Amino acid sequence: MVSKLRILIAYLSYSGNTEEVAAYIGDYLDREGFTIEWHRIGIDVLNDLAYYDLIFLGTFTWERGATPDEVKDFVLEVGYKPENMVVFGTGDTQFGGDDLFCKAADKLAHFYKSNYPALKIEQSPRGSQEKKIDQWLEGVLNNAKSNA
Ligand SMILES: Cc1cc2nc3c(=O)[nH]c(=O)nc-3n(C[C@H](O)[C@H](O)[C@H](O)COP(=O)(O)O)c2cc1C
Repeated sequence: MVSKLRILIAYLSYSGNTEEVAAYIGDYLDREGFTIEWHRIGIDVLNDLAYYDLIFLGTFTWERGATPDEVKDFVLEVGYKPENMVVFGTGDTQFGGDDLFCKAADKLAHFYKSNYPALKIEQSPRGSQEKKIDQWLEGVLNNAKSNA
């Protein structure tokens, strides 16, 4: 039963954009009847990820396509590659165009061999990009249902 899925949203955000996407995802899943747990990377104590059916991992991208150190530490702390990671990210094409846009999210999705392509949002998700998140989440949930 998909509504019984145990879902974690883990994210890192400095200036709030990735947090906004995380909150948007949380609200969407809440409306769909899911119960969400949260992990603020670098702040909260990490629970055993084996407990969760679906793990959303959110990050922004830093200097020249880099993954933030806190997210690298998170990856090391997790210590294995859960098969059910879904990655989302925010970035800004002004910092190197399409090649470097949300590169950290792409790299993480590749590293975890995620079943879903990373969601990539330019800065704040509010406005026209909300539709992009809705469509991405629809795909994520359909895929999760078919694997349940
Ligand atoms: C110094 C610096 C370097 C950045 N480099 C990139 C980059 O290489 N690629 C990218 O897509 N965004 C880059 N960004 C943009 C941030 O990833 C973007 O503003 C993001 O939404 C910030 O997330 P947050 O508000 O959750 O902290 C950079 C931002 C700063 C300040």
